[in-house]
Amino acid sequence: MSAITALVLGAGNRGANAYGSYGMAHPNELDIVAVAEPDAPRRARISTAHDIAPDLQFESWEAALARPQLAQVAFITTQDNMHVGPTIAALQAGYDVLLEKPMATSPADCALLVETAERLGRTLQICHVLRYTNFFSTLYDIIRSGRLGDIISIDHRENVAWYHMAHSFVRGNWGIEADSNPMILAKCCHDLDILLWIMGQSVTKLTSYGSLYHFRPQFAPANAPLRCQGDDAQVCPAAATCIHYAPRIYNAESANPAGPVPSEYSFSPGDFMLNALDGGNTPQSRWEKLKTSRYGRCVYRCGNDVVDRQVIAMEFENGVPCTFTMHGHSDRENRTMRWDGTKATLYAEFGYDQAQHIRICEHGGMYHDVKEEIIVPPPASSGHGGGDHGLVRDFLAAVQGRPSHRQTTARASLESHLLAFAAETSRKSGHSVDFVQYKKQI
Ligand SMILES: NC(=O)c1ccc[n+]([C@@H]2O[C@H](COP(=O)([O-])OP(=O)(O)OC[C@H]3O[C@@H](n4cnc5c(N)ncnc54)[C@H](O)[C@@H]3O)[C@@H](O)[C@H]2O)c1
Repeated sequence: MSAITALVLGAGNRGANAYGSYGMAHPNELDIVAVAEPDAPRRARISTAHDIAPDLQFESWEAALARPQLAQVAFITTQDNMHVGPTIAALQAGYDVLLEKPMATSPADCALLVETAERLGRTLQICHVLRYTNFFSTLYDIIRSGRLGDIISIDHRENVAWYHMAHSFVRGNWGIEADSNPMILAKCCHDLDILLWIMGQSVTKLTSYGSLYHFRPQFAPANAPLRCQGDDAQVCPAAATCIHYAPRIYNAESANPAGPVPSEYSFSPGDFMLNALDGGNTPQSRWEKLKTSRYGRCVYRCGNDVVDRQVIAMEFENGVPCTFTMHGHSDRENRTMRWDGTKATLYAEFGYDQAQHIRICEHGGMYHDVKEEIIVPPPASSGHGGGDHGLVRDFLAAVQGRPSHRQTTARASLESHLLAFAAETSRKSGHSVDFVQYKKQI
């Protein structure tokens, strides 16, 4: 079978790295033949990597989609508030579409995308990468097998690491709701999708609480400047003690012209952080970039307004109560969960850089009597616990008419997105939301 050809709209971190890398690793399955990206160095990088012809390199999605169909599928990996226009145009132009989450930043726009894809009969798949990890596939199989008995209650936590919170949801693209969307949508639509998928049913009602606590001006160190570097001769007076001091976080401090500030902290940024900074490969180039980049700002004065903690209490159609907790102050990046059933209790932990495990403790014995422990080793190949490449593989299969139980539809993704919007309505209004009625009003 020949490789599926793709047009990438937005060659940033996701388009070029998370999904573009699939084409590099599996050239017989995916051939990226065209790109639209306004940033010239990024456009050049992806074009070189995939040998994209000069006349198929565009500066905007509008220019690429103004041309007759250039490839079989489109990967839409622009920022959250730039999903609707290119997706509708791509579907109308004949592309099957893989669209980054969140599908759109309002309930009405999410519904519009689903209706458009269904009316045109095109595949529209949302990048719910967690479904495509071995870990969540295993969890799905265990719970669906009935091994836990009837499910009694669920407790699912998304523990966002302190540095990820500061990078993405304070300094980064998702810190201000009006520029992006609420954190419960931006960060947690994956988790809500997983819960809906495993349960195989929807939610009837929910209540949500949460707020922004820590990343606010009153917690700034005394005399902290607006940017950690201050000027080259005088960095922030709290540089030695602040865990968010940007030159240390982005591995640039050794280039400090005044000499590195001694500190008890050391930190190695993930690729997603360095890719977002886009500050080159040396401490010197990153030091220079941080002087003007959003990532060089004091985390206490970024004007951010999205929450750093939120809880949803919800009830599924069959009466199962579920709590979902998200917060941005975890020592490590992981998800932890507990499912209690009439026959057994399941404890699980899913992290990206440590072993992932699922423990099943059957009832009837003494507590802590672990009947089975499943260790899911972290895959070396791709981000999100292997989910990034698993997602692309499944999308290509869907386009070729080879469905799998992990594949999702845009309509299924609409459910998780609406759940996030409903939670935000509850958090802001202080009232519970009848989710059945809520969906009828969209
Ligand atoms: N599935 C996941 O787990 C996951 C993880 C992280 C981010 N995301 C989502 O992926 C999307 C992209 O995130 P990212 O981190 O790659 O962002 P990014 O900012 O690195 O990439 C977006 C790219 O779009 C380009 N762009 C801007 N205007 C354009 C236009 N008119 N035409 C074409 N391209 C244009 C930008 O120059 C940029 O390179 C976001 O919606 C984000 O929420 C999903």
